[in-house]
Amino acid sequence: MSLLEYNRNAWNKLVAKGDRWTQITSPEMVDKARNGIVEVLLTPTKWVPQSWLGDLKGKKLLGLASGGGQQGPLFAAAGAEVTIFDNSDAQLNQDKIAAEQYGLDIKLVQGNMQDLSAFEDETFDLIFHPCSNCFIDDIKPVWKESARVLKSKGAILSGFCNPIMQSVDPYKYDQGTLEIVHKLPFSDERDLDKEYLAKLKAENTPMEFGHTLSDQIGGQIDAGLLLAGFYEDDFGQTSPFDKYMEIFIATRAVKVQL
Ligand SMILES: C[S@@+](CC[C@H](N)C(=O)[O-])C[C@H]1O[C@@H](n2cnc3c(N)ncnc32)[C@H](O)[C@@H]1O
Repeated sequence: MSLLEYNRNAWNKLVAKGDRWTQITSPEMVDKARNGIVEVLLTPTKWVPQSWLGDLKGKKLLGLASGGGQQGPLFAAAGAEVTIFDNSDAQLNQDKIAAEQYGLDIKLVQGNMQDLSAFEDETFDLIFHPCSNCFIDDIKPVWKESARVLKSKGAILSGFCNPIMQSVDPYKYDQGTLEIVHKLPFSDERDLDKEYLAKLKAENTPMEFGHTLSDQIGGQIDAGLLLAGFYEDDFGQTSPFDKYMEIFIATRAVKVQL
């Protein structure tokens, strides 16, 4: 089974289980968004700054690997023309249910974030890309494709993991201890020991990758995007990392000609 297929099934099962990242946003959040206050997450706990979103009325917005009914309905309620793109049909169905429930218009496209050939050059004003590139092996095509489908001066807002997250011993992490054992870039499938990998697969856990900061940040710059915003975030005091550092990163990058 391909990685794409395995992770699609895994995310479809997470929807059935009601995982946090598959739960549809609330009527209260939709009402706020209709009044111009859009509270969305790229990382676990910090709202994306309103200045990163700007006035969404009439903006063409791509939610990239952003299925699940959390952000799409809020962007649509704020007046954006929203397309949600995701590999999981069940995640896309959450946006469909939300759109019906809240009377909103959301276009849904299923596919792999490494290939945005479904879209013409210079289509979108804004791309919203929450933590999800840990589920693909090579992130450079995501930055290149995003730069291609963004209009000039359009922006991509991204959340991703600090790669140290995937470099620790998973057994010790489960016991609350941090010890670096894996070299980066990291792949669950290639680098985990067989026993731990078998446990993840038995639980239908999506397969993950740890990408270097050169690929995460350098990759955006190489694709012709200029970094114009940055913050870090934690797990909300639920991870051993929270004691030491913020393990998630959010960036705003703008398509500009230098
Ligand atoms: C953590 S969820 C992010 C979406 C969620 N709405 C949020 O708020 O963070 C990760 C998403 O990435 C999607 N995904 C994983 N691999 C993908 C791929 N290769 N192409 C497109 N989407 C993918 C999953 O189906 C899932 O919906």
